[in-house]
Amino acid sequence: MDRSAKLILEGKEYDLPVMEGTENEKAIDISTLRARTGYVTYDDGFGNTGSCQSEVTYIDGEKGILRYRGYPIEDLAEHATFAETSYLLVFNELPSKQQLSRWSDRLTAYEMIHQDMRHHFEGFPTESHPMAMLSAMINANSCYYPHLMNLNVAPDSSKANKEDFIEAAARIISKVRTIAAFSYKKHVGHPRIYPKPELEYTSNFLHMMFSIPYQDYDAKPEVVNALRQFLILHADHEQNCSTSTVRMVASSGANLFAAVSAGVCALWGHLHGGANQAVIEMLEQILASGETIPGVIAKAKDKNSSFRLMGFGHRVYKNYDPRAKILKKSCDELLNALDLDDPLLAIAKELEEAALKDEYFVERNLYPNVDFYSGIILRAIGIPTNMFTVMFAMGRIPGWVAHYKETQANPKWRIYRPRQIYQGQVLRRYVPIDQRENA
Ligand code: SDX
Repeated sequence: MDRSAKLILEGKEYDLPVMEGTENEKAIDISTLRARTGYVTYDDGFGNTGSCQSEVTYIDGEKGILRYRGYPIEDLAEHATFAETSYLLVFNELPSKQQLSRWSDRLTAYEMIHQDMRHHFEGFPTESHPMAMLSAMINANSCYYPHLMNLNVAPDSSKANKEDFIEAAARIISKVRTIAAFSYKKHVGHPRIYPKPELEYTSNFLHMMFSIPYQDYDAKPEVVNALRQFLILHADHEQNCSTSTVRMVASSGANLFAAVSAGVCALWGHLHGGANQAVIEMLEQILASGETIPGVIAKAKDKNSSFRLMGFGHRVYKNYDPRAKILKKSCDELLNALDLDDPLLAIAKELEEAALKDEYFVERNLYPNVDFYSGIILRAIGIPTNMFTVMFAMGRIPGWVAHYKETQANPKWRIYRPRQIYQGQVLRRYVPIDQRENA
């Protein structure tokens, strides 16, 4: 393969190196372009721009492939625990029995939040959105661990530095459950339920969410399994909006808690992680209004309408999102196991069937994405709609931690600083206020 691309600009010819990844993805390396030509490239929304080289996750949008550290999500969703998957993403290897036991012990040791943090919950209004509480509490959490503010994750860092990173990673991955469950209890006006050391990751979260004083929640195996799969399928997704945000913040040298808190904020948008909440609100709206499926499809296609089919489409997948396939099956199994008949599922399946036959969606490669069925699973478990994106964030934290580490461990680590094309006013001088035309 030709190892360079030729650029002819203002009569001059430039050779730009071509890069190739381990999965044969190709890129033109423009790192020297501005210095050599005075030009930058322009790519609104970064749809054609690689911001980094990464070893964490591989996606093939055309073939619907998603692998964490080389392992297909189908294998992990079928066989792995969330603790195992979080270890794999952060440390790049599936753990041995001993490594997994030590990692799980850490997650257990760090499951509580500092008692003083309970006062933060008192300060939030009852109707506060749990995503606002989550981002605030993750950042506030760092105040209790000053020794974890300046991690050194360079490959040659000391044993003590490596230990600090492991502690910070385990604290965030473990405590996000407690913060999420406590924000739910705040919302419903119930007493906070503390974690049980003997429970594994997912069951402990369900315990903190749904147990009440003197009455422990009885987590059915099907519910635990559905949530385990949900969390694993959300654990990473390469350079999406929120992960790129985490890397942007990491590149400035900010601490891990601040970077993850920023990731939570980016994830909140309805075009991104907020879509799972938006899907359910859309399905509920269809059910309540009695709108016909053809009517909804027509509205989604109407350029004069801002309505979009939430949970459909993806920047990268131009095929069925592999996560949606697994979640659709998990959804059916869970509802059958719980003997639940959710009318929203029937609407979702009718919408999917109609859209996948409609030329507008077919020619734009618009398929169900990870958010289309996940909300129905969370509803069946009893998680309130405004907590859905918090659940997405809980799953995504190991991926964010892995990308934070990769950004700062890069021997060529430098602050992210994209360029722009200025389209504003050209030079003009200050005019004293009494001499201005609009004085
Ligand atoms: C996530 O990046 C990631 O990896 C994210 C994520 C992760 O794991 O981190 O996978 C999680 O965010 C999944 C996506 C969740 N968002 C939604 O479900 C919201 C609904 N989907 C869309 O808003 C949209 O599809 C996006 C935001 C997901 C992708 O938008 P793009 O890539 O910018 O595509 P686009 O807006 O340029 O749309 C291309 C065309 C347009 O029509 P034309 O201008 O060509 O006529 O497709 C149309 C769009 O109008 N289109 C849709 C549509 N999505 C795109 N039309 C109707 N309904 C939709 N959902």
